[in-house]
Amino acid sequence: MNVRFRDLIEQTYEFPTEEFSLDQSDLLFHGLNLTELVARYGSPLKFTYLPKISDNIGRAKDWFASAMEKYNYKGKYFYCYCTKSSHFRYVLDEALKNDIHIETSSAFDIKIVEQLKQEGMIDKHTYVICNGFKRDAYIENIANLINGGQHNCIPILDNFEELGLLSNSIKNRFKVGIRIASEEEPKFEFYTSRLGIGYQNIVPFFDKHLKDNPKVELKMLHFFINTGIRDTAYYWNELLKCLKVYVSLKKRCPSLDSLNIGGGFPTKNSLSFEYDYQYMVDEIVNQINLACEEAGVEVPNIFTEFGSFTVGESGGAIYKV
Ligand SMILES: Cc1ncc(COP(=O)(O)O)c(C=O)c1O
Repeated sequence: MNVRFRDLIEQTYEFPTEEFSLDQSDLLFHGLNLTELVARYGSPLKFTYLPKISDNIGRAKDWFASAMEKYNYKGKYFYCYCTKSSHFRYVLDEALKNDIHIETSSAFDIKIVEQLKQEGMIDKHTYVICNGFKRDAYIENIANLINGGQHNCIPILDNFEELGLLSNSIKNRFKVGIRIASEEEPKFEFYTSRLGIGYQNIVPFFDKHLKDNPKVELKMLHFFINTGIRDTAYYWNELLKCLKVYVSLKKRCPSLDSLNIGGGFPTKNSLSFEYDYQYMVDEIVNQINLACEEAGVEVPNIFTEFGSFTVGESGGAIYKV
């Protein structure tokens, strides 16, 4: 009779997995013997397995490359690392081995970018996408970065006021993006999103403040669903609404050439995790392609800002019971 706990586990999960295996009674994580790690360093213990960071960046790039080839997609793909998901030096050093770009969310992040630039880890062509609510110090740091020659720094307007604040501090013409405020999933009782500009307000905002503004060039539409990239009617519906805005704006604004779909890839958080990344990427690329083809506009370059996905599967915590 199968009555042991071990039997239950064996019936429930496929084991070994891609990351976990056993060496007799020792648990291995990507071939690293965790029992030996604990014997050496004691526990509780947090560890980071850096190769998994490059591995996940590579996987995402491959999924997009394969989808773009499948649908004969004419735009390019850019992987941005979202610094807020881990500021640790060793994590950034590893991520930056993979020809990536950076997404920031605070004044402190820009200091990190400046430091990376000084050390030659990134250059003036690296995209620096600045999201988040912009208080004085953040505006000032973004302006310094752009004034210092980071021509691919794109502040993403999160509200109407930020345009004026940035224009006052940046000397020359600069690029901007606009964040669309996605609508909350219907199960939410209150509208709580304070990030971005509502769908209906984007084209009027462009017409009024950007169209004839010699100082700014609209390059990017930013779209982030805080429930993540999931195969749900809600996600696809929000993506389609976003694509409608992209198409209307693109017809008015030829310089707009990028769509940023934010972060939101899930990470493996249990042994029974199942998620078809390639299918989701295929479908996103396909939807963007179809919407642009139907409207007769050029497809955008696609940017992502995967945070958890970049770092979440590289680390572990071992507890002492
Ligand atoms: C603008 C933006 N981009 C990227 C991310 C990263 O999301 P994730 O860790 O789900 O990939 C977040 C997370 O809140 C975000 O707000």
